[in-house]
Amino acid sequence: MENFISVKDVKNISALVNEALELKKNPFAHSELGKNKTLGLIFLNPSLRTRLSTQKAALNLGMNVMVMNMDKEGWALETQDGVIMNHNTVEHIREAAAVMGEYCDIIGVRSFPRLVDQHEDYSEDFFNKFIKYAGVPIVSLESATLHPLQSLADLVTIEETKTKPRPKVVLTWAPHIKALPQAVANSFAEWMVKSDVEFVITHPEGYELAKEFTGNATIEYNQDKALAGADYIYIKNWSSYEDYGKVLSMDSHWMITNEKLKLTDNAQVMHCLPVRRGIELSDEILDGPNSLVIQEASNRVCAAQAVLKKMLETNFSK
Ligand code: CP
Repeated sequence: MENFISVKDVKNISALVNEALELKKNPFAHSELGKNKTLGLIFLNPSLRTRLSTQKAALNLGMNVMVMNMDKEGWALETQDGVIMNHNTVEHIREAAAVMGEYCDIIGVRSFPRLVDQHEDYSEDFFNKFIKYAGVPIVSLESATLHPLQSLADLVTIEETKTKPRPKVVLTWAPHIKALPQAVANSFAEWMVKSDVEFVITHPEGYELAKEFTGNATIEYNQDKALAGADYIYIKNWSSYEDYGKVLSMDSHWMITNEKLKLTDNAQVMHCLPVRRGIELSDEILDGPNSLVIQEASNRVCAAQAVLKKMLETNFSK
């Protein structure tokens, strides 16, 4: 694995999930693998889970870790080529990424979309330029369109909790007061369509995700129908892809409650966090026995560790 940007970078998904589960049991089994190797974690946006879990994963492998909050501590970055930099940007990504590549053996990058121009965000221009100019392996800490470390942790969580070979997994849109990226939902869909699950996506009309990520997943606009017999409900808000970046609905009937849970096969409930209580998800679900959200966040460590281990083995083993 040279880079980890999407599920397409993974040759064998179930082997990676099994690796993560092994590392969860024995996190220090490879504590020499990353010796004298440095991971740089570059954040252009806030984070709790991704920052701490990826840092812990790297430390478990014996790596050194440097974290930089580029949005607050770095120079304002220019990404367009050929511009005269006589406005707010101070440093071009060509130099910034190249310099970081001199200091780090692997770099993790988080860069959210602006949610203004669909083409600009979905071209992943920032990530592609970062990969090109850094010259070292890059792991996505969430890009404009995808969040693969989250999706791997989600799949690990399903694998360790499932009670039937091919569970029904329902990704449901939930209300939110702000326009959020589609990245977590895109990514979850991309991983689920490649996994051995019955996968259904439900959302109000106008919230269709990009087909490149949902593939042949079943789309059901009636949430109650979608939830029938579900083993897992994955809850997430996203803004519209078609009417790009817009909030088209705040319908509170889409929030999962104990009443909605009765439609399912006692479904376990997932959310990547952070979650807005009482808007995206009810207190009764979050505090109830069906919530997997903390286990899911805990699995961010072994998921990140499996990815970093693979990257170290691929790129640095003699
Ligand atoms: N789920 C997730 O990526 O959390 P953070 O934004 O806190 O890293």
